[in-house]
This record gives sequence, C-alpha cells and structure tokens, in this order.
Amino acid sequence: MTIETMKPAHVSQIADLEKRCFSAPWDDRSLASEVENPLALWLVAVEGDRVLGYVGSQTVLGESDMMNLAVHPDFRRQGIAEKLVTALISALAKGGSRCLTLEVRASNAAAKALYEKLGFTKVGCRKNYYSRPKEDGDILRKEWNL
Ligand SMILES: CC(C)(COP(=O)(O)OP(=O)(O)OC[C@H]1O[C@@H](n2cnc3c(N)ncnc32)[C@H](O)[C@@H]1OP(=O)(O)O)[C@@H](O)C(=O)NCCC(=O)NCCS
Repeated sequence: MTIETMKPAHVSQIADLEKRCFSAPWDDRSLASEVENPLALWLVAVEGDRVLGYVGSQTVLGESDMMNLAVHPDFRRQGIAEKLVTALISALAKGGSRCLTLEVRASNAAAKALYEKLGFTKVGCRKNYYSRPKEDGDILRKEWNL
C-alpha cells in the first residue's frame, strides 16, 4: 500500500466510498474541484489501482480542517486510517500549518478512538451539526510545534 496525493484518476472510487460511508456524500464534481484547489490537500491510500481509503483537508492561514476520512469496509482495522492521518499531519506541518481541526459525530466510537489515539482533544461541540440522522458534532483539534 502507498499513500499518494489525490489525482483525477482516484476521484470516482473516492465518490463511491463517500456514498458507502456517509449520508451526505461528496460527489465526483466536488471531489474533482479539490484536486485543483490550492488550499486543499487530500491523501489517498492505494494498492495497485484500488483506493483503500482517503483523507481530505483544507488549510487557511496556517490552520487546517479535515474535510473527510474513510477506509473501505473490507480494509478496516489494518492501520490505514492511522497512516493516512499521520501522513496528512506530517505534510501539513511541512507546509507550515500549526493545527488540524475536525468534526466527528458524537456516536462515532471508531473514529473518536482513532483521533484520541492520535492525540486529538475535544475543544467544543456543534449542536445538531449533522443531518440524516440529526446529531451533534464534537470538535476535535491537534496542535503541533513547527
Ligand atoms: C473511522 C475509520 C476511518 C477508521 O479506519 P481504520 O483504517 O479501520 O482505522 P485504523 O485501523 O487505522 O485504526 C487505528 C485506531 O483507531 C481506533 N479504531 C479504529 N476502528 C475502531 C473500531 N471499530 N472500534 C474501536 N476503535 C477503533 C483504534 O484505536 C485503532 O488502533 P488499534 O487498531 O491499535 O486498536 C473507519 O472506520 C471508517 O471509514 N469509518 C466510516 C467513515 C467515518 O466514520 N469516518 C470518520 C469521519 S469523522
């Protein structure tokens, strides 16, 4: 498995994973625009031509936000998400970013365990941030020294 920056060839598989994993999925067009977006950095875990997982971020004035993270259901619990987020943080730090903030569904125990393992801490809560189903979003952040 290798970790690469998102390219146009990855977009349709990522859009398929979005549909499988989220109730409000990003479509092909929104994902393709991220390939061109100078504020965006998306990383993809690939084995051959197959996309196993991905993580997306945008950075403004040295502060990064994670847009999405997913691993194909057949490849979970193999450390792929951990590798993706670790690689993302390392690339963002090299680019001059100081922190990474994300929202996670309050009930998403798997993702919350992952973020805790990686040193994220809860800094707030957005009431009813998510729809389908409606749910609060925990705001988590990790900061690092450049
Ligand atoms: C959350 C998600 C990305 C984790 O991907 P993954 O590749 O399976 O995670 P990893 O194998 O890298 O797990 C790393 C750590 O996260 C935690 N973790 C991951 N999945 C877990 C689960 N199902 N239950 C409990 N802890 C879990 C564990 O601490 C794990 O470390 P360990 O294996 O040493 O115990 C994956 O379950 C997924 O795609 N979920 C659907 C989409 C989603 O919820 N995205 C997050 C949106 S904020």
